Amino acid sequence: MADPSFHIATPRLFLHYFLSTDPTHVDFLIKCFNAPDVFGLTSTLAGIKSSRDAAVKDIEGRIELQTKSGFGRYMISLRKDANQPFSASEDYEHIGIVSMKLRRHPKAPKVPDIGYILLGQYWGKGYATEAGAGVIDYFATRGVTDILGFCNLENEASRKTLKRLGFEEREMRCVYGLGDRMDDVAEEELVWARKGMSADLSIYGL
Ligand SMILES: CC(C)(COP(=O)(O)OP(=O)(O)OC[C@H]1O[C@@H](n2cnc3c(N)ncnc32)[C@H](O)[C@@H]1OP(=O)(O)O)[C@@H](O)C(=O)NCCC(=O)NCCS
Repeated sequence: MADPSFHIATPRLFLHYFLSTDPTHVDFLIKCFNAPDVFGLTSTLAGIKSSRDAAVKDIEGRIELQTKSGFGRYMISLRKDANQPFSASEDYEHIGIVSMKLRRHPKAPKVPDIGYILLGQYWGKGYATEAGAGVIDYFATRGVTDILGFCNLENEASRKTLKRLGFEEREMRCVYGLGDRMDDVAEEELVWARKGMSADLSIYGL
């Protein structure tokens, strides 16, 4: 059972678990999957687009692992001000998702990668950078500092966000296990690594 009170606070945001028992969380997940230009949907996740049951199952299927390991996705919600305390029963304005995922595919990288999506109306306000910094700081307290980022070559907003977060652009690589894929199809992505990580990406399973 996920701790509903768990959260990471940043000056303008709360990052917290998706809870299948909170209808606003389920609706928000569906909204994200239907938002134009937000997701390149993979076959494993596409069911969420139209079905509440699929969204609930998706949330429930991930939460146990996430509460144990921390790896997974966090909802991003706006806080009224930096003094507002977090309350699981508050009706927050949900704006996006930030993730730190350790991929399960046997050929996937051996260190986690950061990801983020925001609904379009919230772009360009520094929220992705703030949420990304929040999860990076949180994982640093758990001893996780080697983190990768992946994006499409054309995704200017994502590239700039990774740069702002202290990642360095490395090179194009074929990456297994993205989008929760477990099949033998690798996606070609631009790889980013945090400053200070080795130049040799094979160390990280790439
Ligand atoms: C990528 C994304 C999360 C960035 O969110 P954001 O909150 O707008 O990012 P920030 O405001 O923190 O800004 C980060 C940088 O991106 C720039 N940026 C934001 N939107 C942009 C856009 N549409 N085009 C180009 N640059 C953009 C900002 O100006 C800023 O750059 P700067 O350092 O030069 O000022 C958001 O655009 C998004 O959700 N895109 C769709 C999903 C996606 O592509 N996710 C990443 C998958 S790898």
